[in-house]
Amino acid sequence: SWTPGAFVDLTVDELKEKIGNQKVVLGLSGGVDSTVAAVLLNKAIGDQLYCIFVNNGLLRKDEFESVLHQYKDMGLNVKGVDASARFLDALKGLSDPELKRKAIGNTFIDVFDDEAHSIQDVVFLAQGTIYPDVIESVSVNGPSVTIKSHHNVGGLPEKMKLKVVEPLRMLFKDEVRRVGAELGIAKELLGRHPFPGPGLAIRILGDITAEKVRILQEVDHIFIQGLRDWMLYDKVWQAGAILLPVQSVGVMGDERTYEQVVALRAVESTDGMTADWVNLPYEFLQKTSNTIINRVKGVNRVVYDISSKPPATIEWE
Ligand code: XMP
Repeated sequence: SWTPGAFVDLTVDELKEKIGNQKVVLGLSGGVDSTVAAVLLNKAIGDQLYCIFVNNGLLRKDEFESVLHQYKDMGLNVKGVDASARFLDALKGLSDPELKRKAIGNTFIDVFDDEAHSIQDVVFLAQGTIYPDVIESVSVNGPSVTIKSHHNVGGLPEKMKLKVVEPLRMLFKDEVRRVGAELGIAKELLGRHPFPGPGLAIRILGDITAEKVRILQEVDHIFIQGLRDWMLYDKVWQAGAILLPVQSVGVMGDERTYEQVVALRAVESTDGMTADWVNLPYEFLQKTSNTIINRVKGVNRVVYDISSKPPATIEWE
């Protein structure tokens, strides 16, 4: 039967055989899949692996710095590239969800391609593709319907003329986590909630500005940190905050306010295909709402999303 130990041994041998003494480039996202793929490759070929971690400016608060630090501690040969301004620029004036996804995907490809070209003689592009991604890209992006242009690296291998290595493409998510644990990757990293490639851009409904990103990062941080403090983080499959393109009236002291509304979303799921909203304790919701409204300037109302998937989706865009 399948064991993570046997998978690691076999895959490391296969990777050594396939790659030899050539160079491989890999884009780290901060997520479980790309991290496990990188550590596996690092075990097989060491510093012949060049990792690139791009800050698109749409990550969670402080995430770029802290994750980059963790990668370095894990011994990965990684370069952090802050391209926040380039992404913001590409997103300027766009409010259609699919156009935002495309702009982010294209910018990612450009940034990654530039970086990869600064490494001499790269032959392989490694990706953390897992089995459900393989299936999904067949069923979701059929010729007639594109529900969502998933995963922002679709056109990368073609554009870069590189050979693809996908060591996790036969694994399910739980198997990826077990392989990660076998490789000694920290539990905290392996247990992280899924986070969409386009990041906060699809949780800011409408157009994106630096100020909106900053507001949402603060709100999201309070919510996620609260889930951790209340030992709720691991009970939730995915959570986040959404900045609505709506202002509502509030009152602060003697003053009338007219500010933004944010929605909080937390779901239980096994694969993201279906999901239920989580029955978070009222006391937690009450404290979180108070903290957000007191601390985050520009927000005067918090709502909790009680919609299941289907018919609602997990993200709002
Ligand atoms: P939905 O909103 O379709 O989300 O119920 C299901 C899962 O997919 C994630 N998601 C994305 N991930 N690029 C990604 O990498 C995307 O464009 C994208 N859209 C949704 C979502 O966060 C959830 O985990």
